Amino acid sequence: MTEVLVRETVATAYRDHVDEQLVCVHVEQVTHDVRSITLALPEGAALEFRPGQYVTVTAEVDGQELSRCYTIASSPLQTGTLTLTVKRQGPVSTWLHDRLGVGDQLRVSGPMGVFSTYEHPAAAHLLLSAGSGITPLMSMLRTLVGTEGPHDVVFVHSARTPADIVFRRELEDLAAALPWLRVAVVCEGDGEDEVWRGARGRLTAGLLAELAPDAAAREVFTCGPAPYMDAVRDLLAGLGCDPARCHQESFVLDPAGAVLQGDGGLDDQGRADDAAGHGDAPATGARTHTVTLTRSGREVPCAPGQTILAAAAQAGLSLPSSCAEGVCGTCKSQLLAGRVDMRHGGGIRPREIAADKVLLCCSTPLEDCVVEA
Ligand SMILES: Cc1cc2nc3c(=O)[nH]c(=O)nc-3n(C[C@H](O)[C@H](O)[C@H](O)COP(=O)(O)OP(=O)(O)OC[C@H]3O[C@@H](n4cnc5c(N)ncnc54)[C@H](O)[C@@H]3O)c2cc1C
Ligand code: FES
Repeated sequence: MTEVLVRETVATAYRDHVDEQLVCVHVEQVTHDVRSITLALPEGAALEFRPGQYVTVTAEVDGQELSRCYTIASSPLQTGTLTLTVKRQGPVSTWLHDRLGVGDQLRVSGPMGVFSTYEHPAAAHLLLSAGSGITPLMSMLRTLVGTEGPHDVVFVHSARTPADIVFRRELEDLAAALPWLRVAVVCEGDGEDEVWRGARGRLTAGLLAELAPDAAAREVFTCGPAPYMDAVRDLLAGLGCDPARCHQESFVLDPAGAVLQGDGGLDDQGRADDAAGHGDAPATGARTHTVTLTRSGREVPCAPGQTILAAAAQAGLSLPSSCAEGVCGTCKSQLLAGRVDMRHGGGIRPREIAADKVLLCCSTPLEDCVVEA
C-alpha cells in the first residue's frame, strides 16, 4: 500500500539526535535482497533529521562490534519511528537481515550528513538513483509528498532487473496519484520471472534528455555506486547542469581514502562542502605535535599531516572507529585543549563542532592537543 506521509500525531518530544538502543518494531522484505527495518524512538518522539541524512548503527557480529551508516529512508514527517532500508552485502547488512527481528534492540546514533533537499530548497528536482542508492532520494520524495507544494519531481531509478527495483510499488502508486511526479525506471535486463518493457540498459545522455529535458533548471540529487555517479556526472554536464546545483552521495567509501559521501556538487571529489576545522587555517608548518589521550592515559606523537586516529594506532592504541573517512561518527571525541584541522565527510554536526567535538579519523593537530579518548 502506498505510504502517503502526513504528520498525524503530535510527537511527545522532539529530539535532535539519538545515540541509544532503539527497538525494532517492523521488518519488511522489499526485494529478494533488500529489507526495511523500522525502529521505534523512545516515547514516540520525533527525530529532527533532514531527508537524505543517515545514522550509524552498531551491531555485535560474531563477537565483534561493527558500525555502518544507513540512510533514514522514511520521512522526518513520520513521528515515532525511523525506517532503514538495507541491501544484503556483507557482515553487518547480513546480520540486519538474518538476526534482527521485531522486539530486538539496535544501537543507533545520528542523524548525520549534508546530502539533503533541505540544504538546497528548489521548485523542481531531478532525483537520480541506482540500486540501494534509492534510499536518501526516497526520503526526499516521501517528505515532498507530505509537504505543501507546488512540487515538480522527475525520479529516475536504475536497477539490474525488475526484481531488483526497490520501492517499485510505492513509486508506481505515487506516480499514478501525483501529477507533479514523473517516475522512470531503467533496467539493465530482464528478470527471471519478468520481461522488462521499460527503458533498458544504462542511463544514457539521450534517455536523460528525454526524461528531463529541463534538467539544467532542476536541483539534482544523485546516489548510487561510484561508476554510476561518474557516468551521471558526465551526463549532467552534457545537459548543461550547473555543478553547484548537482549533489551526490555514494554509499561506498573510497579505499584510496577520498570520502565519496558528501554534498559537494559535481566539481568536487565528493568531500562535504562544509569541511570544518577547529582552527583558523590548515596545518602549514610541518612539525610533530603531542596528543594527550585522557581516557587511555597516553601521550602520542602525531606527525605532520597524520590524523589523531592514525597516530594512536601507530602507538598501539585501538580507539573506536569504523569508516576512517569522517562519515560514520564512531570516532567522535571531545577536544579538551588545542586546535585541529578537521576535514570531515558529514559525520559531525555544526552544533557538535561548536561544542569542541572532533572526529579523530580526519583531524590533524595544529598544536599540542588534549582529547578525551
Ligand atoms: C552515508 C552512507 C549511507 C548508507 N546508506 C545505506 C542504505 O541506506 N542502505 C544500504 O543498504 N547501505 C547503505 N550504506 C552502505 C552500508 O553502510 C554498508 O557499507 C553496507 O551495508 C555493507 O556493509 P556490510 O558490513 O554488510 O559489508 P562490508 O563488508 O562493509 O561491504 C561488503 C562489500 O560491499 C560493498 N558495498 C557496500 N555498500 C555497497 C552498496 N551500497 N552497493 C554496492 N556495493 C557496496 C563494499 O565495498 C564491500 O566490498 C550507506 C553507506 C554510507 C557511507
Ligand atoms: S571512524 Fe567514521 S567518522 Fe571517524
